[in-house]
Amino acid sequence: MDIFEALLKSHETQRALCARLLAAIGDPAQRKPIFQELKNELAAHETAEERMFYVPLIAHDETVDAARHGIAEHHEMDEMVEEMEKADDGSAEWLETAGKLVHKIEHHLTEEEEKFFPQAREVLSRAQQKELGRPYQKEHERLQAKEEQEQP
Ligand SMILES: [Fe+2]
Ligand SMILES: [Fe+2]
Repeated sequence: MDIFEALLKSHETQRALCARLLAAIGDPAQRKPIFQELKNELAAHETAEERMFYVPLIAHDETVDAARHGIAEHHEMDEMVEEMEKADDGSAEWLETAGKLVHKIEHHLTEEEEKFFPQAREVLSRAQQKELGRPYQKEHERLQAKEEQEQP
C-alpha cells in the first residue's frame, strides 16, 4: 500500500464514522461511542499524516503552503472536538458543533484528495510514495492504540 492508498483508507473510515454519527445523533446510547471512535481515528490520522505525509511535503517549495493549510485545518478540527468534550452531551452546543465538525472533516478530506494529493504526487518520488505507506500505517495503529488506552 503506498502513502495515498493508506491515507485514503483512513479517510474512508472517517467518512463512515461521520455518517454513523449523524444517523445516530438523536440516540444518546449510540452517539457517544461513535463520537469517541471518530475522535480517536481523527487524532491518530492527523498526527500520522502530519509525520509521514506533511513533513516530506514541507520540504518542497511547491507544497509547503498546502501542507501548512492542512495542518491548520487539523488544528481547527481538534478545537471542535475539544468543544464537544466540554459541552454537555446532546446539548444544543454539542449538536451544533457535531454538525460543524462533520462538515469540516468532509471539506478537509475532499480538499486533501482533490488538491493536495495531485500536488504531492508531483513532488514525492514514486519510491518515496511507496516507502511512506507502511510507516504511516504503523504510526496510525500505534497512536490509535494509545488513544484507546487513554480513553476515560
Ligand atoms: Fe488531514
Ligand atoms: Fe487526511
